[in-house]
Amino acid sequence: MLSAARRHRALIDSLTASGALTDRRLAAAFRAVPRHFFIPLHGAVTTSGSPLDADRAPERWLEAAYADEPVVVQIDDGDPERPEGVPTSSCSAPGIVARMLEAARLRDGQRVLEVGTGTGWNAALLAARLGDDRVVSVEIDPEVLEGARAALVRAGRTPRTVRGDGEFGYPEGAPYHRVIATCAATRVPRAWVRQTVEGGLVVLPWTAMEGAGVLARLTVHGDGSASGPFLGGLGFMPLRSQRPPPAAAPPPEAEPDETRLLHGLDPIAPLTRFSTAFAVTVAVHRWRMGLRPAPGGAGRQLWLASSDGGSWARVLPAGTAWRVEQAGPRSLWDEVEDAQEEWRTLGEPPPERYGLTVAADGHHRVWLDTPDGPGWDQD
Ligand SMILES: C[S@@+](CC[C@H](N)C(=O)[O-])C[C@H]1O[C@@H](n2cnc3c(N)ncnc32)[C@H](O)[C@@H]1O
Repeated sequence: MLSAARRHRALIDSLTASGALTDRRLAAAFRAVPRHFFIPLHGAVTTSGSPLDADRAPERWLEAAYADEPVVVQIDDGDPERPEGVPTSSCSAPGIVARMLEAARLRDGQRVLEVGTGTGWNAALLAARLGDDRVVSVEIDPEVLEGARAALVRAGRTPRTVRGDGEFGYPEGAPYHRVIATCAATRVPRAWVRQTVEGGLVVLPWTAMEGAGVLARLTVHGDGSASGPFLGGLGFMPLRSQRPPPAAAPPPEAEPDETRLLHGLDPIAPLTRFSTAFAVTVAVHRWRMGLRPAPGGAGRQLWLASSDGGSWARVLPAGTAWRVEQAGPRSLWDEVEDAQEEWRTLGEPPPERYGLTVAADGHHRVWLDTPDGPGWDQD
């Protein structure tokens, strides 16, 4: 069996070799903090759902601790009454943690607030990089926080850990040079911007809609606003208070107000591609989409539904064409088509060419290339 130390070394070597970890000081922090201290001995699961047990299958447990994969440590907020099977806390994948910490451009002497302590691994990395007294980490879930505190003791790190709702930051420790969220937000909480020094950075997974998230790095300005680029796709579990309502597909028997046929290329396929889905989700608001089997099992159908439930659309295979059905005050498929057309006219820019400004009054605007470029209000 390969030792933990060898696996640890191999993981950091592969992160540096792949270019995920380029900052020398950060790499030293990764080398100083063994990840297996933060993986529960029993009860965690890999993303494929297979349970880990350090006593019965120590090799698999260790392998999971040093794979470039997340390890889920809590499902459904740990509530056995809610058997939805949704991961609600995890030890994030090492490559993603490296990418976020690199994006944060950490420098000696900085003070950092982390939102979402989870297993405590990221807090330990921050503490190893900047010093224990420079790091505060807030976690909303008491049991998860208890686990993180025990792991931090094992790792010999002492960042301040706080139980609380990270939406409000942690004013007692402010101001920070960096706020790093390890749970996704659609509305960047005001507290994160207010508690960051002018010129400081707020680094977070941002998402207009589940499945189309990006990494955002916002610089805080003197007027109380913050703006910055998206740095490519990134999916994270959402802040508890910003969880989207359960997706409600229109019932199969729902009668459309309008039906038309589409000929030509499959209209569903582009929306399964990340760049198209991202562009559409920043332009069309208050809706959800999903795929399900088409009636009779002939291929798949796309459904769209407004968040208030009042409008819906379906796109279904119909022989060699597709049938669009829409109902309600919004013609959701038309909105999606218009957004795709606009994106094509703009030259199909990838998510890395977009960015976000959060104004001092909280208004959110996504823009293309520069803050005064073409933009999409998010309110
Ligand atoms: C992906 S995990 C964090 C991973 C963690 N940084 C690590 O190194 O293991 C996301 C965490 O955010 C926490 N969380 C969700 N909403 C929160 C909130 N409003 N305030 C603080 N923590 C929150 C969840 O309970 C979960 O533990």
